Amino acid sequence: MANNLLAGKKGVIFGALDEQSIAWKVAERCHEEGAKVVLTNAPVAMRFGKINELGEKIGAEIIPADATSMEDLDNLFTKSQEIMGGKLDFVLHSIGMSLNVRKGKEYTDLNHEWMLKTFDISAISFHKVMQTLYNMDAMNDWGSILALTYIAAQRVFPDYNEMAESKALLESFARSFGYHFGEKNKVRVNTISQSPTWTTAGSGVKGFKEFFDYADKMSPLGNADAAACADYCVSLFSDHTRMVTMQNLFHDGGFSNMGMSPAILDM
Ligand SMILES: NC(=O)c1ccc[n+]([C@@H]2O[C@H](COP(=O)([O-])OP(=O)(O)OC[C@H]3O[C@@H](n4cnc5c(N)ncnc54)[C@H](O)[C@@H]3O)[C@@H](O)[C@H]2O)c1
Repeated sequence: MANNLLAGKKGVIFGALDEQSIAWKVAERCHEEGAKVVLTNAPVAMRFGKINELGEKIGAEIIPADATSMEDLDNLFTKSQEIMGGKLDFVLHSIGMSLNVRKGKEYTDLNHEWMLKTFDISAISFHKVMQTLYNMDAMNDWGSILALTYIAAQRVFPDYNEMAESKALLESFARSFGYHFGEKNKVRVNTISQSPTWTTAGSGVKGFKEFFDYADKMSPLGNADAAACADYCVSLFSDHTRMVTMQNLFHDGGFSNMGMSPAILDM
């Protein structure tokens, strides 16, 4: 159901790879709510992903950018403002990738060079995005910047591996930059801590299926899916959440506040 919540707003969305991607659903919902969108992803994702399909569907231009490259980010935000005719109202960082997870390395035997690359892609890129926007003065007053995270930043989920530290860093960047962006021009910065979700990045985590089922049983509302996450993102890009900033917001059906669930004991 569309309510024109984002009428007249302009945004850049990172991370739509295929129709399962959380960013894909967010882009579709933002378009339905009346926003103009520019889509972006890593140059390599242009080759094996389906982002062009999404671009055609919602009438969005696509600008490739490696989110770890300041040069690419500079080009992305300069061109996005040209294409959409002005400063941005919202940005979604929906990027995650772990080299050690991908290569099957256990947490107690990590390759630290790969770990640094993981941090760069999954967390420092968020600082790079915000620093570029800040120095370019590319955000409209009362704009909204979001990144997606996971509760492994606060609690131990052994198979999440080095992504736990990536997410802790990502959430910290949201708080720290949220201060500076709020002071500068009332731009808010938050992270959404999302339930396990069936996507390329999600299902790459060892034992994902079992864990997905566990979280679903543990949460009184069940796991939040990508479509529900897209609705939540729309609300946080809208003018109805203007005073929410520097927060890590759990979007997980109640999982984060559960201790024990009879549904789990019955399993
Ligand atoms: N799926 C889950 O269970 C889950 C749960 C909580 C949080 N998240 C987070 O949601 C976000 C989106 O992931 P998803 O589950 O939709 O999976 P996804 O695989 O569809 O999206 C990850 C995206 O990151 C992009 N990316 C990787 N390296 C990049 C780079 N150098 N520059 C630019 N983009 C790059 C990929 O191309 C891909 O589009 C991630 O931050 C992820 O950690 C996912």
